[in-house]
Amino acid sequence: MKTEHQRTALITGANKGIGKEIARQLAQQGFAVFIGARDAAKGREASEELCQQGYEATFIELDVTDPVSIRVACGTFSQKADHLDVLVNNAGILEDHGEDILKLNTEMLDRTLKSNVIGPILVTQDFLQHLQKSPNGARIINVSSGAGSLKDMSTYAPAYSISKTALNAVTKQFAGALKNQNIAVNCVDPGWVRTDMGGQHASRSVDKGAETIVWLATAAPQSETGKFWHDKQEVDW
Ligand SMILES: NC(=O)c1ccc[n+]([C@@H]2O[C@H](COP(=O)([O-])OP(=O)(O)OC[C@H]3O[C@@H](n4cnc5c(N)ncnc54)[C@H](OP(=O)(O)O)[C@@H]3O)[C@@H](O)[C@H]2O)c1
Repeated sequence: MKTEHQRTALITGANKGIGKEIARQLAQQGFAVFIGARDAAKGREASEELCQQGYEATFIELDVTDPVSIRVACGTFSQKADHLDVLVNNAGILEDHGEDILKLNTEMLDRTLKSNVIGPILVTQDFLQHLQKSPNGARIINVSSGAGSLKDMSTYAPAYSISKTALNAVTKQFAGALKNQNIAVNCVDPGWVRTDMGGQHASRSVDKGAETIVWLATAAPQSETGKFWHDKQEVDW
């Protein structure tokens, strides 16, 4: 049955970490959530976990580096829902291992840009048709990082940092292009979060890491667009 009257959200990379927690919090608020994941077994497991807790969750196979996978996911989505209210571009990779830009492996940079920059562009382009059908204005949230902020940038994780700066630029571009369509586009630095990427010594829980993203997806004024956020405050690019 198609989701007609319920708010809907698609979260990429939602099988674990911050993405999974965003899905849980949005489901808790009554959204029908779509769990985007490139690994079918892990994606199904995450969505079944939410269903067992009484939430509405559906797995959608989606590799953000594969244009065909995105296209197929978009078709699958249209069979299950007639509109999309919230898109969270959360999937991302961090492959830098201590090297600086003087010895940067540009193949690794290429993989990082494909996942963290081109992926969100392609997903947003393809799912725009569904976001445009949102009855009350849609919201796109790109999960960025403090590492992408030019203000504090130095030598940390060059490929990852460059990709998140670019993702911030992508956010501004989509916000500008969609400003007359009632589609808000923002990006968020979730802070240093305890996930496989952030590691066990990170200072924040996934609950806290997801907080500002979920706020932008639900409670923030629809007029807020084209901004970079941390802890519900606008921060410098
Ligand atoms: N943790 C932090 O401290 C921190 C800080 C700032 C920003 N962030 C950002 O927060 C977001 C989530 O990170 P996390 O900490 O939750 O990391 P994580 O636990 O490593 O989760 C990353 C998620 O992205 C998915 N993913 C990676 N490449 C993908 C692809 N090509 N297609 C689809 N899914 C893909 C992963 O899927 P698999 O399980 O299949 O690998 C996984 O579900 C990322 O954008 C990250 O850059 C994290």
